[in-house]
Amino acid sequence: MENTFAQDVLKGLSAKDKYLSSMYFYDDNGSRIFREIMNMPEYYLTDAEFEILSMQSKQIYEALNFSGPFNIVELGAGDGFKTFKLLEYLVTNNIDVHYIPIDISQEAIDMLTKNLNQRLPNLKIHPRVGDYFEILKDNRVSEYPSLLLFLGGNIGNYLEDKAKELLRLVNRNMKLGDKLLIGIDIKKNPIVIQNAYFDNHGITKRFNLNLLLRINRELDADFKIDDYDFYCHYNPITGNVNSYIVSLRKQTVELKALNKSITFDYNELIWTELSKKYSLEEIEKLAVASSFKLTTNFLDCKHYFADSLWEK
Ligand code: AVI
Repeated sequence: MENTFAQDVLKGLSAKDKYLSSMYFYDDNGSRIFREIMNMPEYYLTDAEFEILSMQSKQIYEALNFSGPFNIVELGAGDGFKTFKLLEYLVTNNIDVHYIPIDISQEAIDMLTKNLNQRLPNLKIHPRVGDYFEILKDNRVSEYPSLLLFLGGNIGNYLEDKAKELLRLVNRNMKLGDKLLIGIDIKKNPIVIQNAYFDNHGITKRFNLNLLLRINRELDADFKIDDYDFYCHYNPITGNVNSYIVSLRKQTVELKALNKSITFDYNELIWTELSKKYSLEEIEKLAVASSFKLTTNFLDCKHYFADSLWEK
């Protein structure tokens, strides 16, 4: 079987404690629902990071301490909405920067490039579609130092060991003196976090249940969406938001493309996502454990979110 989506779904739904990977949330429909999440006032992460990059571009640039031209390599650039403010600052101040947005979606890269060509015609853009690490490897031979951007708090979706593994891999693909600006959501009043993930508009619920619709479509399954609910819980001690799909009755689902059936007990859970929150001390530990040195934490005015600047 070469379809990894099929393999992963089968593995996760056959496990004693069922799970599905949150990386599969983002089909076209899921990406659209995620944009709705980012527009909810309760989902403070996007606004907080936007504020940091809008208000502190100058400080971020100065902290880089690059003396000449440099690259900005963005991992998972998406629509580049937040990065725009940083790029705008650099271009308006005639700072010589080469922007290399990387994304797996050709469509996202095309839109981003078109948009930036219009809004910042003097910016040098070298868009790339494909695997982050292959492209990072190419970037090692660049004559200029690089600032890598890994924004949005995506690192929180990895279990801690996996996060360290990923960051070490990023580190190995950087040159000495290169910098990484990484967006990390910070521990805060648990109610604020709970409201961001267990929203009462039902958008995050739709985001999760869309995964079952994707399985129906791609693996010819017969999940009946109304027979499932969504639950999520923030643990302020560990900093983990864990999200689940709940089976509202005992039921059997056929995955026809795989010739398999899966049974669910009444109230059985499928774990779908971890969104980990870090304290400032934990951010520093994460940097050190992945072979970086923390330079500065840039925080929004409410101290909800950090864009943390690390150096190799
Ligand atoms: C993409 N990622 C950083 C989001 C988060 O906050 O963990 C995904 C998300 N899940 C529920 N709401 C948003």
